[in-house]
Amino acid sequence: MKILILNGPNINFLGIREKEIYGKETYESMCNYILNTFEETDVEIDILQSNIEGEMINILQKAYFEKYDGIVINPGAYTHTSIALFDAIKSIEIPTVEVHLSNVHQREEFRHKSFTAPACIGQVCGFGKEGYILAIEGLIVHIKDK
Ligand code: DQA
Repeated sequence: MKILILNGPNINFLGIREKEIYGKETYESMCNYILNTFEETDVEIDILQSNIEGEMINILQKAYFEKYDGIVINPGAYTHTSIALFDAIKSIEIPTVEVHLSNVHQREEFRHKSFTAPACIGQVCGFGKEGYILAIEGLIVHIKDK
């Protein structure tokens, strides 16, 4: 089973940005944690990150041709703005789970609305890096059930 994790703008700045919200752990360390968690399983995980909306769409379209079984996406701030990402997730018809490190519903009102979540099979937020693990586990169950 092939799963793609796609992180959006500023997620690569973990460990640098707003540590009181996102914690001190670096992006690289978080990625290693996720990869190590599934190392001994038959789940193959690729992790990509982009600060650019169009590039994220290109990555999603490429995932379609490369036949990924599932996608975990943290669209960062594009969550709250991007109809183009909504359309891209819808277009590729690959089961996708939206993840947020922080609990967006406890934060500013502009973070309460997600344009991308309605294109996804589910959303996990507020559990930090564990959210990625939960999302992958949810995807595995969903894919095996199909
Ligand atoms: C975030 C939440 C977004 O509102 C914010 O713009 C981010 C990070 C999260 O993972 O908690 O960049 O997606």
